[in-house]
Amino acid sequence: MKNFWYILFIAFLSTSCVTQQSSTSESAEYKNGAVVTAHPLASQVGVDILKKGGNAIDAAIAVKFALAVVYPNAGNLGGGGFLVYRDKEGGLASLDFREKAPAKASRDMYLDENMNPITSLSLDGHLAAGVPGAVAGMDEAHKKYGTLPWKDLVRPAIDLAKEGFRITARQAHEFNTHKKRFMQFNPNGAAIVKESNWQERDLFVQLELAKTLERIAERGRDGFYKGETANLIVAEMQRGNGIISHQDLENYKALWREPIVGYYKNNKIISMPPPSSGGIALMALLQSVEKYPLSKWGFQSDSAVRVLVEAERRIYADRATHLGDPDFYNVPIEYLIDKDRNQKRMSDVNLHKATPSNTIKASKFPGYESEETTHYSIVDKEGNAVSLTTTINGSYGSAVFVDGAGFLLNNEMDDFSVKPGVPNMYGLLGGKANSIEPGKRMLSAMSPTIVERDGELLMVVGTPGGSTIITSVFQTILNVLEFGMTAQESVSASRFHHQWMPDHIDVEESAISSEVRKSLEKDGYNINKRGPIGRVENIIKLPNGKLQVGADHRGDDTAVGY
Ligand code: DON
Repeated sequence: MKNFWYILFIAFLSTSCVTQQSSTSESAEYKNGAVVTAHPLASQVGVDILKKGGNAIDAAIAVKFALAVVYPNAGNLGGGGFLVYRDKEGGLASLDFREKAPAKASRDMYLDENMNPITSLSLDGHLAAGVPGAVAGMDEAHKKYGTLPWKDLVRPAIDLAKEGFRITARQAHEFNTHKKRFMQFNPNGAAIVKESNWQERDLFVQLELAKTLERIAERGRDGFYKGETANLIVAEMQRGNGIISHQDLENYKALWREPIVGYYKNNKIISMPPPSSGGIALMALLQSVEKYPLSKWGFQSDSAVRVLVEAERRIYADRATHLGDPDFYNVPIEYLIDKDRNQKRMSDVNLHKATPSNTIKASKFPGYESEETTHYSIVDKEGNAVSLTTTINGSYGSAVFVDGAGFLLNNEMDDFSVKPGVPNMYGLLGGKANSIEPGKRMLSAMSPTIVERDGELLMVVGTPGGSTIITSVFQTILNVLEFGMTAQESVSASRFHHQWMPDHIDVEESAISSEVRKSLEKDGYNINKRGPIGRVENIIKLPNGKLQVGADHRGDDTAVGY
């Protein structure tokens, strides 16, 4: 029924013969361009831009702003993210618009006088917010690669905020679930809070957000980091003991960085470098399992699960020690993605017995929660590809809407290691590499990735899911390269996850047959059943040039193409 309303609404919005993929098993294919996002309206905005002659970057910018309106749990102006780009000729780039610690931040800011963490401070309210990078990121991407006027890319989001849109059943449920938290942190009210409960298909209008977007449309990054919007952010900070200042906002810069590039067999993997751990960990995982006959063993076969889990355990141990913001900490990138090292590291794997995580340490360098980040994949008719993951961290970030500006602030500060040995909200551990310092970017797991083969684009993939992002992207890539799945099958397939500590395998309900589960448990593996893992979006370019799409039906995710 829900799908029926979407299709009707999209048919109404669209003047042309765009088709929408709605089945859970089929992979639709498109000739000219494809956009896969967490929300049907955002996917439609992206395809409309492509059809107007915009390129993949133009579409990515328009989708980013549209998601800030139609997907407020993760789409954002008040957060940050990463973009990986491959142009039609194989030119590569990656853009870091991750949030930063404000200048007034300090290492122990979330500890009490006995040096114990006060968890709520890094998760809820004003102090949890890092300096947002989203608008600077889009501005930077547009300056370097954009072809359509900036204003035209922000316009669809303004219209959606001003005129409103019909919320999905899932959104109605989430808005109602978070109502108490929103009321606690927004005493002056917010568009998302209304007296009665939200219902599916209610119209959600966000006038303050529309005004903020208009300032951004008019003034570019200055419409956010200076003037009225900046004043409203700083005023909001003062109301709630937050520390983001005018100076922090003005100083924020999105940065182009060298992407992580490596090979899995004959496939070139292109992913995000630090301050995301994603690219390095993904590359190291692929290298660790490359020598094993995975396709012969089969998808989620006993041996395949063991090898993947043992690789994940080892690589997440490295992550906890060696990864942080490269502008503050010397990350040994070459060492961490050295194929020989990663393959040697697997030499003590025993296919008949689990390796306890407490016997695994990060190798020495010589010298749960709902899925509330969001990923999208875009390919345009020229073959330019964008893989972009963006977040405000937890569900609805810090729950603080900037009063008068209508957008949520992130709670990304929790991605720092607030104290060595104390896990963050995803159970991830960290140390000095990821300690809080003024102006530093917190470590991320976001892994927007592009795969190329024989000089041609092959796959554009990514997902939300906190610590499970890396293992979900890893498994989706193997689903295609080793297990021969289509784009849709690769994202629909069940997933599992191991992150070194805690020492258990998280499994989705339908993941890993009961026979394999029993065999794993007999050999010392702990299995932890949990809800859905990730929401992967995947576009595969087929040898005939068509774009095959996979949108994850664990959410409202939708692929649109033409
Ligand atoms: O950057 C990170 O790794 C996290 N802040 C991502 C959060 C996320 O994926 C939330 N979804 N579950």
